Amino acid sequence: MSFRNLPLAVDHERDQSSLFTAEIRAEIDTHVAKYPPEWRQSAVMPALSLLQDANGGWLTQALMDDLAAYLNMPPMSVYEVATFYGMYDLEPQGRHKVCVCNSISCMLQGSEALIEHVEHKYGVKPGETTADGRFTFKEVECLGACRDAPAVLLDKRYHENLSPDALDKLIDDLE
Ligand code: FES
Repeated sequence: MSFRNLPLAVDHERDQSSLFTAEIRAEIDTHVAKYPPEWRQSAVMPALSLLQDANGGWLTQALMDDLAAYLNMPPMSVYEVATFYGMYDLEPQGRHKVCVCNSISCMLQGSEALIEHVEHKYGVKPGETTADGRFTFKEVECLGACRDAPAVLLDKRYHENLSPDALDKLIDDLE
């Protein structure tokens, strides 16, 4: 989904997404409760993560619109957060996400070799999903693990000091 194509307003007549369940709302409420009532939109990031996980790793416009209405914030503000941060995806993803950091510390420590290795061995460029749907390959900005570069985020787990062989082993262990 392109940011340009996103609408500027919520359609309040539309049915709520079936994924915006009472259970999800209760989980969102645990984050909302951390802030003063007038700042409930401060929970937008953990709420987006909850919805993304519930939807198999990506966010639909309907989910973002439902969240905007729930947090009393403009839909565009939710879209801005979802498109700014690399951990949110707006298109269907593979069953796993392999995210290689390519910021400066990791680049100096071999992340480009990791990226080339994944491209050649698994036939995917950054942003693409393997033909069998096993994983989506992402090139991402600094993961905050610069000291032990190069770093890879595999689903929600960080892995550091990785060689191409070590990354292969992690990918082999998926599923
Ligand atoms: Fe890669 Fe910081 S530059 S983790």
